[in-house]
Amino acid sequence: MIGRFSLFPEQASTVAGQIDAIYFFLVAVSAVFSLAIAAAIVVFAVRFRRSKERQVIPTWEGLLSLELTWTIIPFLITLVMFFWGARVFITLRTPPENALQVYVVGKQWMWKVQHVEGKREINELHVPVGRPVKLVMTSEDVIHSFFVPAFRVKQDAVPGRYTSLWFEASKAGEYHLFCAEYCGGQHSRMIGRVIAMEPAEFQRWLSGSTGTTGNPSSMVSAGQQLFEQLGCATCHQENSGARGPNLAGLFNKQVALLDGRSVVADEAYLRESILNPQAAVVAGYQPIMPTFKGLVSEEGLLQLITYIKSLQAADAAPDAAPAVKTHATLQGSEEQG
Ligand code: CUA
Repeated sequence: MIGRFSLFPEQASTVAGQIDAIYFFLVAVSAVFSLAIAAAIVVFAVRFRRSKERQVIPTWEGLLSLELTWTIIPFLITLVMFFWGARVFITLRTPPENALQVYVVGKQWMWKVQHVEGKREINELHVPVGRPVKLVMTSEDVIHSFFVPAFRVKQDAVPGRYTSLWFEASKAGEYHLFCAEYCGGQHSRMIGRVIAMEPAEFQRWLSGSTGTTGNPSSMVSAGQQLFEQLGCATCHQENSGARGPNLAGLFNKQVALLDGRSVVADEAYLRESILNPQAAVVAGYQPIMPTFKGLVSEEGLLQLITYIKSLQAADAAPDAAPAVKTHATLQGSEEQG
């Protein structure tokens, strides 16, 4: 927790114990070998020192069994390090399907957080305990790095692309949030708190209006507003014969492009298509879409993307309301593709 000195940060996420276990294993292996080598140097220096009886230093021509031993044992130990490390790395890189998505934008020198429900925060991140949380991150300016030592997770936020990070808080409390990439004069002050709350308390916080900045409308409805303001709807209509491709049910689907390539319509694709529409024109359409670079903020882009994600294909979910959905159905629609 904040304000108490300890040699190791608290373990407050589900992966923290696994990461510490690897760390301690590496330290233990290094310590054992360092001590063994140091001891051997001392022993040999004394044992084989030059003396009156022994003027010629003895030489060994090699001993196969000994050489095999000191090759095979370290090899096996490094294999353990590799496979163990790889397993934990894969866990860290694979967010669970049911993860709660939260959007983070870094800028000199603050962290801006948006929850799908509409809650926004600066230099603070509220999360529920016992539920995986996936952060989708980008930066407005330079590279920053989102680092929560108590969760043992760290990921760069890079301008122009989306990176992600997931964790599951295992203990309620307040934890340090640092920027771990030198990003300019105030880098050291780009700090904040992650507040892990019991699920019921988190729900209350999420639906409450106290202690927040910004508007109370959900990211989906904020995205829908932007969609209308920017005139996206004039071309991306649901009916066939529109000038732009229909966006309903698009997210995470394979898209065939004019140049023969095929891409997955993920967050990065949607972002590129808004900012640089000519980069990937959908097969069957003309490259007539103007760029929206400079017209939408990074946060606005995330709202637009969240809105597009919420648009389900008419045949996929006939009973669902057209645009604004509850959080549960939104999460569900993200998992389908
Ligand atoms: Cu942002 Cu260092």
